[in-house]
Amino acid sequence: MEITRPRGTRDFLFKEMKKRKEVEETLKKIFETYGYHEIKTPIFEDLKLFTLKSGEEIVKQIYHFKDKANRELALRPELTAPVARLYLNEMRKHPKPIKLYYYGSCFRYERPQAGRFRQFWQFGCELMGAESPQAEAEVIALAVHCLRELGLKEYKLHIGHLGILRGILEDAGIKGEPQDRIMGLIDKGDLEGLKLHLENIKADKTVKNLLLSIIGMKGGLEVLENLESMVGSCEPALESIEDLRRLVMLLDDFKVEKYNLDLGIARGLDYYTGIVFEIYVPSLGAQKQICGGGTYNLIELFSGEKIQSTGFAFGFDRLVAALKRQENEIFQFAKVFVAPVSDSTRPSAYRIVQGLREAGIPSDVDLSSRKLRKILSYADHLNVEKVVLVGERDLKDGKVTVKDMKTGTQELVEIDKIIEYLKEE
Ligand code: HAM
Repeated sequence: MEITRPRGTRDFLFKEMKKRKEVEETLKKIFETYGYHEIKTPIFEDLKLFTLKSGEEIVKQIYHFKDKANRELALRPELTAPVARLYLNEMRKHPKPIKLYYYGSCFRYERPQAGRFRQFWQFGCELMGAESPQAEAEVIALAVHCLRELGLKEYKLHIGHLGILRGILEDAGIKGEPQDRIMGLIDKGDLEGLKLHLENIKADKTVKNLLLSIIGMKGGLEVLENLESMVGSCEPALESIEDLRRLVMLLDDFKVEKYNLDLGIARGLDYYTGIVFEIYVPSLGAQKQICGGGTYNLIELFSGEKIQSTGFAFGFDRLVAALKRQENEIFQFAKVFVAPVSDSTRPSAYRIVQGLREAGIPSDVDLSSRKLRKILSYADHLNVEKVVLVGERDLKDGKVTVKDMKTGTQELVEIDKIIEYLKEE
């Protein structure tokens, strides 16, 4: 009988572990530079901790079980609720703000696919008892600082505010469960489901149209100008817009330069109340979100004590995947591909590519005796910047044609000057 791993779980061998350790160490260093202290909470908790305010989607995905004494327990699907519990059990009297960080595995019964697992790791933090919007600005700066230190190049930071959508819904008398359900559908990007739900709860047409236009709004500060005129006299929404504007001013001081305001962020967990943010790596495809966070009121919900908290968690597995992908792009692909136009020019092509390699230019050459069309399509697949076309007629003049793969432009270059030319380019 062969026993296999449970679906949605992975084994990690040494190479993978080495990379994960490296990323973990870098994140620890940066979190500690911002004054955070590491904590650890149990892998399983009382089921109620997660059913109270985690949101319909997460509750459906919880791994729960009864222990031998009939207690209802759950494997943690995330770490914010456990940290709020830890605060209430252990740290109530500590001077605020309190800065905690964690690294640990989480469990969600999801449909497994690339980047979506049933056991995955989160590296995150919670800042409790600091004021808005400076708390959010520092927390966002920490997330961005980590990505910079790890050398991640392509990522997009999106920032929104749940007070805007929730304010409009509240004003229209849509509260509690129907409101949470709307936020859940927006988070999933389920527009059809959203329209149907709005119809089912008989939402006013103007509210429905307003909601549908707001969730598509993305961009710079100008988004907020337009929004202000749209929400009219809805006080909570206007206050939230002002919150966002103040945050944007502060981001500059915290050296966060690139971001997108995105009013369609709803977050999949129901405990958020204020500023929220997500970070995406588009090349990861469907599971591109590597980080999510924002301001929430879980402690108030559990105990009545009003402590503003803000935090975020990196999806550690997705972060490592994005970094590995980037390394492959850097190491795997040559910068230049040398393409013999006909078989007779192959020896010259080999001599040229060896010359480029000796000069330290990462280069590749056709070794499969393919026709030019196929060679070019292979070079395109490798994502090279330039193709050196070695043709018989050009060779007679001591020249080759260099094709820029991005712009499509071609230039005749003397073979003696090719290294100089490619280095300059
Ligand atoms: P979340 O967005 O549900 O937020 O999860 C945080 C990150 O965990 C996601 O951005 C994603 O990268 C990763 N993640 C989620 N589910 C999976 C999965 N099935 N497989 C792989 N990665 C996954 C939270 O959990 C909040 N507690 C974050 C937070 C902290 N908010 C405030 N403080």
